[in-house]
Amino acid sequence: MFDVNLLRKDFPILSREVNGQPLVYLDNAATSQTPKQVVEVISDYYYRYNANIHRGVHKLSQEATDAYEKARATIQKHFNAEHPYEIILTAGTTESINCVASGYASLLKKGDELLISALEHHSNIVPWQMLCEKTGAQLKVIPMTLQGTLDMEAFDTLLNYKTQLVFVNHVSNALGTINHIQEIIEKSHAKGAKVLIDGAQASPHIKADVQALDVDYYVTSAHKLCGPTGVGMLYGKSELLNLLPAYQGGGEMIATVSFEKTTYAGLPHKFEAGTPNIAGGIAFGAALDYMNEIGFEVIAKYEAELLAYATTALEKIEGLKIYGEALEKTAVISFNVGSIHPYDIGSILDQMGIAVRTGHHCAQPIMDFYKIPGTVRASFSFYNTFEEIDLLEKGIRRAVAMLQ
Ligand code: ALA
Repeated sequence: MFDVNLLRKDFPILSREVNGQPLVYLDNAATSQTPKQVVEVISDYYYRYNANIHRGVHKLSQEATDAYEKARATIQKHFNAEHPYEIILTAGTTESINCVASGYASLLKKGDELLISALEHHSNIVPWQMLCEKTGAQLKVIPMTLQGTLDMEAFDTLLNYKTQLVFVNHVSNALGTINHIQEIIEKSHAKGAKVLIDGAQASPHIKADVQALDVDYYVTSAHKLCGPTGVGMLYGKSELLNLLPAYQGGGEMIATVSFEKTTYAGLPHKFEAGTPNIAGGIAFGAALDYMNEIGFEVIAKYEAELLAYATTALEKIEGLKIYGEALEKTAVISFNVGSIHPYDIGSILDQMGIAVRTGHHCAQPIMDFYKIPGTVRASFSFYNTFEEIDLLEKGIRRAVAMLQ
């Protein structure tokens, strides 16, 4: 049985006050909160077996290595990757994307085309622009519709045999749109293009099966799904990761080093130079365990109810316009009220203890498309309540009354 009040006890931060009011945390798309079970895994590591991994013969190092590799196996199982070594532990989604983009610098040539979507976060735009500058490849953009979905007819037209890579987010961070990634992957493969899916916003809500999707690369961050910041995943099919040149040079990623020639380690170590975020990696596994214990279907069902309730409540506010009206959405509402600046509404909500994100959400092209400076974004998680949505509605009404 899903009991939100019981679950909230796992998150001590949700009981604190902000500006003299009970915290209403609705900025989950920026970062999720971390349950005690995950925090305890981190403190347990530092209290009991803090040691460097893959290096020492001593007991602590072996325990840390085992826990880190166990977490990798948990992540592999969660995303249904075929092999544990297809899971590269990175600093997060941004580093995962940069790792792939950097590798393709030596694999692309002038005249090649890359396709990204108009719904991307800057982290899935800028690395590819940098790659195009280096290689002479051309970046093309799948346009979006007013509803906040991708224009799939335009996608069909843009995709061609020159397209080498396609990059799309599974879910838009700014609008919550769930993109039709299965169709994008199938059509891209039919033209010989590889596909990278940015799963940062999908992972807290949707359990992606990388083998069923037949996706080439899937990336995400632990902090979006109840894990810590500074750790994430690059999944890649092993044959592709083997082709991709190493990203950073350093310890751990080598087989042999001499001044004449260095040879590189196999997967996953080839992409894991230096001492990683060991506690973070272990906690990433613990966060997935925590969420799987609740169940992703249960989470999705409850969040869909929160979204429907919030959409109905907010739509009643005069002058409020919601951006992103795809039929398939995660629990995100991006909105503006009349010509009031989103920052002003966000600041007043903060005075009431309500945390939302305001601005362009690192997705400036979406804001340019709608010709707005930004939006107020309320993003919900499984630990939010209907009462919190009532407080949000009341808070927006108060803010609007003060600002108009
Ligand atoms: N990408 C994160 C967000 O959408 C930071 O807020």
